[in-house]
Amino acid sequence: MGEGARPCAAARTRPAPVPLTPGYYAHFLPLASETLSVEGTVEEIGWPGKVLEEVVATRYVTPLREGGSLPGIVEADDLGTYVMKFTGAGQGRKTLVAEIICGELGRRLGLRVPELVTIELDPVIGLAEPDQEVQELLKASGGLNLGMDYLPGSFGFDPLAYEVGAAEAGRIVWFDALINNVDRSWRNPNLLVWHGDLWLIDHGATMIWHHNWPGAQASAAKPYNASDHVLAPFGPDIAAAAAELAPLVTEELLTEVAADVPDVWLAGEPGFESADEVRRAYVAPLLARAATIHERITLDAPTATRPSQAPGWLTERLPPRPKPAAGDDRAEAAARTGEEAGR
Ligand SMILES: Nc1ncnc2c1ncn2[C@@H]1O[C@H](COP(=O)(O)OP(=O)(O)OP(=O)(O)O)[C@@H](O)[C@H]1O
Ligand SMILES: [Mg+2]
Repeated sequence: MGEGARPCAAARTRPAPVPLTPGYYAHFLPLASETLSVEGTVEEIGWPGKVLEEVVATRYVTPLREGGSLPGIVEADDLGTYVMKFTGAGQGRKTLVAEIICGELGRRLGLRVPELVTIELDPVIGLAEPDQEVQELLKASGGLNLGMDYLPGSFGFDPLAYEVGAAEAGRIVWFDALINNVDRSWRNPNLLVWHGDLWLIDHGATMIWHHNWPGAQASAAKPYNASDHVLAPFGPDIAAAAAELAPLVTEELLTEVAADVPDVWLAGEPGFESADEVRRAYVAPLLARAATIHERITLDAPTATRPSQAPGWLTERLPPRPKPAAGDDRAEAAARTGEEAGR
């Protein structure tokens, strides 16, 4: 298609450039309360009310098979590449609400969380996708979806290969206790290492109380068992993390992160009159929990056997090779090669 042909979706709906906000700089700050490099401190200028940029998907690149919800990599009209979580996935829209509230809260507390956006999807971009499962997912996800900035070259955190300091481990364990994250265990760390730093992903399995609002307060008062947390072996300094982070979790901050959730994912929630009423319901349990959760974090021995120290193919002894029959030259040569390699 030459120049002057029908403009792509990107050209039709490209959003205005996003001004550099404190939300943007928070990626690089160890703590949200520190001085920002341009405009001033968070206290002086406040956080922007609306952080999530909306982009339009222009190409479905490939599915990420590691994820249970079958997230995919997409390109968008801002020329960004995103990990897309689909509204049509079986986990439901509450998973996406949790991703936004907890992801944005984490970033404002100074933790590294890749930038989140909402992505408008026209399922037509998946027409050439050969995988039927992906086709179905795209068809079921027309409209708004969630995107997380793709971290190219990142790899999954391995507690045996990477050292984490007690202070950083403490901040992450405290944060996971606050949001009741059940999905940062050694089985499924949901941490990426990128440019030598830890990045937090996947906050869909948090805030269990939003699945049963009438019991939310009682549920949010429950303790947090961090025994299986992937950072439990690093001596997390939870007291220091609580002293540093709990005062930052204010009603204003929580109201702001709840404001980032699009109306369409809150509308029609049983028992609520409006999307804003649902947003308000997210504030109270987190606010109450922030004050005292550090007193209710358990760090015992892990509840199940840990994985072996190294993969089996490294540690297990190979079975002895069968002795070649006399006169079988190829088998004898292969056996010799094996003996040399094993020396
Ligand atoms: N921002 C990112 N940059 C690079 N890779 C990512 C990013 N987010 C996710 N991934 C990769 O995709 C995988 C799946 O992502 P994620 O854990 O968010 O999906 P999920 O469907 O919620 O997974 P599950 O519930 O099975 O843990 C991750 O384990 C990671 O390998
Ligand atoms: Mg995951």
